[in-house]
Amino acid sequence: MANSFGIDIGTQNLKVFSGSNNQITNIKNAIAIVNKNQMYAYGDSAYSMHEKAPESIQVSFPIVSGVIADFDNMQTMLFEVLEHDLKGKIKGSDIVVAVPTDITEVEKKAFADLFSKSKNKPHSVRICEKPIASAIGMGIDVSEPTGVMVVDLGADTTEISVISLGGLVLSELLPFGGNQIDESIVTYLKRNYNLVIGQKTAKQLKEEIGSAIEGRGEKLTVVGRDVVSGLPIEMEIESDVIYNAIRSDLESFCTNVKLILEKVPPELAKDIVHAGIYLTGGTSKLYQLTELFSQVTNIKVNAFDEPQESCVRGLGQVLSDAKFKTYGYSMKTRIFK
Ligand SMILES: Nc1ncnc2c1ncn2[C@@H]1O[C@H](COP(=O)(O)OP(=O)(O)OP(=O)(O)O)[C@@H](O)[C@H]1O
Ligand SMILES: [Mg+2]
Repeated sequence: MANSFGIDIGTQNLKVFSGSNNQITNIKNAIAIVNKNQMYAYGDSAYSMHEKAPESIQVSFPIVSGVIADFDNMQTMLFEVLEHDLKGKIKGSDIVVAVPTDITEVEKKAFADLFSKSKNKPHSVRICEKPIASAIGMGIDVSEPTGVMVVDLGADTTEISVISLGGLVLSELLPFGGNQIDESIVTYLKRNYNLVIGQKTAKQLKEEIGSAIEGRGEKLTVVGRDVVSGLPIEMEIESDVIYNAIRSDLESFCTNVKLILEKVPPELAKDIVHAGIYLTGGTSKLYQLTELFSQVTNIKVNAFDEPQESCVRGLGQVLSDAKFKTYGYSMKTRIFK
């Protein structure tokens, strides 16, 4: 479908599928504000100012814990991305936007309102539950009477869901993800090594030498500030230091996956054991996380390339493939059903 967009508005990354060229764009979901509410920059350039900007510029993230925290700026940024960066037209377009399952109907409607309550009226605005879109994006036939477990490990949220017959049997949205792992690294290095680093450096350590299982054996040299002298210093950090810093976060991921597994009706549990757990979201790229999950649950774990994009890829299929059309629904029809 030419003039159409599939949109996954994450806490850290905004992913857009554009129907005109079937391309996926992934940019940082950040805005830089001056004079209290004026947008100065957005996307990757706003993110690059994070932790570096003077007091007059504030970098913020319009989505917090999976829900919209700053409606106006989110709407402005989406307009800029869709109309200027991607050279699309919101007016007259068909839009499908992804929403977490375990939030209120009012919070879900706000995602649709970002587009339907704009000056440039789209032709249609539908929403699609994130776990369903992710499953479709991973090539799973969600309409089957087969239990499918999807664990979306994002930046600020973890959504654990069980799907059967195109609907959600269980879904829980937990308010932690990759950002909390970064914070644990910051705290650990400060407490144990007297080293103060920023969140971006913590993220780099996690992504480059972090691991969900001990013994990765990599090293990375970072620059931070020494707590005692107050001066910048260089320090070489080993993988196992990062592993120890994030251990308790990994344990809580595992505990929550197990808690949901315990609630799954037995017939569906059988399917999950047979097909395995499906991992998606950027945090699922953490080195050896699939191995850890399968060790802890005793169930096979499936991971795909580009897990950050499985949801938006699924939205693209909801827009373009008649077979998946019904998974996008308009808020009105659902509320008054
Ligand atoms: N190689 C990697 N190892 C560990 N974590 C990674 C890796 N690559 C990306 N991440 C993490 O993935 C997260 C971003 O993933 P994603 O784009 O799925 O989040 P989001 O959709 O913006 O957030 P949410 O779904 O919580 O709203 C970040 O925390 C990032 O640090
Ligand atoms: Mg996400």
